[in-house]
Formats: sequence, C-alpha cells, structure tokens
Amino acid sequence: MKIAIVGAGYVGLVTGVCLADFGHTVLCVDKDQRKIDALARGEIPIYEPGLTELVSSNMSAGRLRFSTDLSAAVPDAEAVFIAVGTPSRRGDGHADLSYVHAVAREIATCIEGFTVVITKSTVPVGTGDEVARIIATTNPHADVAVVSNPEFLREGAAIDDFKRPDRIVIGLEDERARSVMTEVYRPLYLNQAPLMFTGRRTAELIKYAANAFLAMKITFINEIADLCEAVGADVQQVARGMGLDNRIGTKFLNAGPGYGGSCFPKDTLAMVKIGQDYDSPLRLVETTVAINDQRKRAMSRKVIAACGGDVRGKTIGVLGLTFKPNTDDMREAPSIDIIQGLVDRGARVVAYDPQGMNCARELIDKVEFGASAYDVAIDADALVLITEWNEFRSLDLDRLKSTMKSAILVDLRNVYRHDEVAKHGFEYTSVGRPAGGSPASTSDAADQQSDFPPAGRVGGQSTLRKKIP
Ligand SMILES: NC(=O)c1ccc[n+]([C@@H]2O[C@H](COP(=O)([O-])OP(=O)(O)OC[C@H]3O[C@@H](n4cnc5c(N)ncnc54)[C@H](O)[C@@H]3O)[C@@H](O)[C@H]2O)c1
Repeated sequence: MKIAIVGAGYVGLVTGVCLADFGHTVLCVDKDQRKIDALARGEIPIYEPGLTELVSSNMSAGRLRFSTDLSAAVPDAEAVFIAVGTPSRRGDGHADLSYVHAVAREIATCIEGFTVVITKSTVPVGTGDEVARIIATTNPHADVAVVSNPEFLREGAAIDDFKRPDRIVIGLEDERARSVMTEVYRPLYLNQAPLMFTGRRTAELIKYAANAFLAMKITFINEIADLCEAVGADVQQVARGMGLDNRIGTKFLNAGPGYGGSCFPKDTLAMVKIGQDYDSPLRLVETTVAINDQRKRAMSRKVIAACGGDVRGKTIGVLGLTFKPNTDDMREAPSIDIIQGLVDRGARVVAYDPQGMNCARELIDKVEFGASAYDVAIDADALVLITEWNEFRSLDLDRLKSTMKSAILVDLRNVYRHDEVAKHGFEYTSVGRPAGGSPASTSDAADQQSDFPPAGRVGGQSTLRKKIP
C-alpha cells in the first residue's frame, strides 16, 4: 500500500518506519525542514532504541522516504495518517488541536480518489467529526473516510510496542475504511494482534481512558508509598502483593517521583476538560492530576530533608533527567520540578543523563551538567537518582563515595536496597520503604515490576535533538 504519514515525531516516525518494514511504501511528511533534512541523511532526530537501524534498512529498500511537501505524498496515498502533536492548550489545559486541524485542511486541498484519513494523534472525542467537516468544507469533492486509530506505544520500547501491540483500536463510521485498515495492519493481524473495530468516538475515548487509568494507577501507588513511610511498611512488597492478583497486575505499580512525559500529563488534563465540557466530571482523574502536580515538587523537599533540612550552598548531583529511561524526551519530566525546587532553596545542582542533556539544556536554567554519574558525584553533598537508566543500576558506590563531600543517596526509583547501600557507608532515602529496609525487599523484585526493556536492548544513537514544543 502507499501510505502518507503527516508529522514525523516520536509517533509518526515510528509508525512510518514500522509500516514500511511491513512492506508498505511510506512517505513521512513534516513541516520541520531541519528534521526532514536530517532524516533524509539517515540521522534520527530522537533517541529511540532500534530506530536508526530500522530507518536505514527501509530507506535502503526504497520503502521509506521523507519530505516537507504534503502534496507529494497525499494524492497517491490510500491511507494518510495524522500524527502531529496535540499539546495542552496554553491557559486552559484543553488539547490544542490547531496542528491537527491545519493538517486536515492541507490534506483536503491535495487529496485525489477515495482516501482513508487516520487520526493517530491523541485527540478529544469528536475530533474525527471535526476533521471530516474541515475536509468536506475545504474540498467538497474529497472522497474520504475519517478513522480514529490511537497509538499506545511507549517511548523507549516504541518499535516493539508497535510491532507487538496488545491491541489495535480502529474507530470508523464508514465501512469502506475497514478493509483498508485491515490491509494496513495485515502483518500484525496475521500475528494475531487483536484488531478492535469500534465507532470513531469510542476509539477516541479509549485512548484517553487508558492513559488516565495508568496515570491513576501510578498515582495510587505513590500515595500508598507515602502511607508506607508513615506506618513503616514497604511499598515494593505492597505493590507486589497487590500486583500478583491477576485482576490488578504488577505493571505501573512502581512508586516514584510522579509521572511525566509527553502523554500522561497532557492527556489526563485534556480528559478532565472533556468531562467538564460534557457535564460528566471525572473526579478521580481531576484528583490524580492534582496529586501528581504536587508530588513532583514535594520530591525536592524529600531531598532537602535527606540533606538535614537545608541545601543552601550545597551541591546536589542528579542522576537522570528524562521522564523515563531509554528516551531523550524531557517533556514534563519530574526532574524539572525537583531541580527547580532545589535551586529555589539555594542548592547548586549538577546533573547527568545518558540521552536527555541537550533537551534539558533548553528547559532547565541554573543547572550544570556532568559527563557521567561519577563526574556529578565529585564534591557533591548528596546524589539524587531521578531516572532509572540501566547504567545507574549498578554504580560503584565506593567510587562515588570517595569523591563526595557527604555520602547521601536519595533514590527516587527504589533501584537500590537499603542494606546494600548502607554497607558502603551511605545514608539512604528511597520512596515508601522503611529506613531499615525489609528482609525480602530486593532490587530483583523491582526489576520484575519494571515496565522498561532490560539492559542490552538499547540500539540507535541520535545525532540531532528535537526542540521541546
Ligand atoms: N510520544 C508518545 O509516546 C506518544 C504515544 C502515543 C500517542 N502520542 C500522541 O501522538 C501525537 C504525536 O506525538 P509525538 O510525541 O510524536 O509528537 P512530536 O512533537 O514528537 O511530533 C509531532 C511532529 O508533527 C510535526 N508537525 C506539526 N504540524 C505539522 C504540519 N502541519 N505538517 C507536518 N508536520 C507537522 C512537528 O514538526 C513534529 O515533528 C500526540 O497527539 C501524542 O499525544 C504520543
């Protein structure tokens, strides 16, 4: 099939390259000339394991091309995916649909023959109706079926998620789109990935409901972690004990500094607004948003408490900046609020992240950057582990301690064991675990719960960084 993808960010690029890898002929369009030039040279503007190799092999096979010109891609395409950003609208938290609407207008002007237009961006209920209306008013002769096909991939494991999805949700109102969408996803369908056909509005809501539920699950265990600290229980064991119940499941029950990223914060906020607009308030989601917002900043107070209540003039080394490992994405990362909280209280912050430092430089003021975990430990009064990159999981604690001013480790991802760290002479603070540790609280248990791919799966390197919108 000939497929056009509009928007070559995390979702558009991964969608485009994976569909090309299925054997389709794909043209990815982005209005960002620098991004397209880089892609055409085989340089990947984002860090996503395995992406570089997959782009390169599909470009060589002639199945994947890049352009800034939508009119070069749309007329021939049987399916056109819209994968542009839907950030929070400044001021009110609604999803900003201006990019989606602009693309719909552009598509309408150059469409030829029957075409399926697919919204892959995360969009509020009713956006498909609006896209169809925009196309029909811009070009009354356009013959289109507008479909909702939300994306559930996780950054850091995006290719695997796209190729081995739990489900593919396809919302349509025009039956002609069913066979086209089945053809787009045929290789996955043959692999038994469930293709779930629904109405368009239902599909749009499934995406928000899924993200809101996961955000709620994280926030729930974070509150349980606080309770664990108050009563002397161990949140990792509570989470495991809960998660082994099949009705609950172990994923997304890792206590930490609060969720961040390009999706959960904006999608929960947008869902709250959708509920309000339809006079059907989503109070659980509203509360989740409020708790998570406060939690990120509260983590800086946890660090300050670990440092004896005052960080003025002290140096804090930060390990990990991105909102999760295996991505360079800094959008809404908890590190931003935590570092700001520390700087506001007079600390000097030196940070290191394996992939996120270029993006972080544009977002965080008054922070210095080190070249490694060991570099930021030099003269530090405390180290704070914010993102659980694999390279932080087995640090040489003696080496760290030998250059630090005082041996304090605040582990906001519960990567280490209290007894292990204490053996090396560190004062150790983690999230929701009793100070003395608990007998069976192991980092193995944390690994089993982890939602991130194991070490050794990290692939491509980025050569050019995206600018945070
Ligand atoms: N990032 C994720 O993990 C993820 C997962 C699932 C769903 N989503 C959703 O997918 C959508 C895209 O997210 P993303 O993270 O890929 O965004 P992104 O910001 O990385 O990429 C969006 C791209 O669209 C381009 N663009 C904007 N307007 C354009 C236009 N008129 N023509 C051509 N290109 C245009 C931008 O230049 C940018 O490269 C969002 O709705 C998001 O909520 C994201």
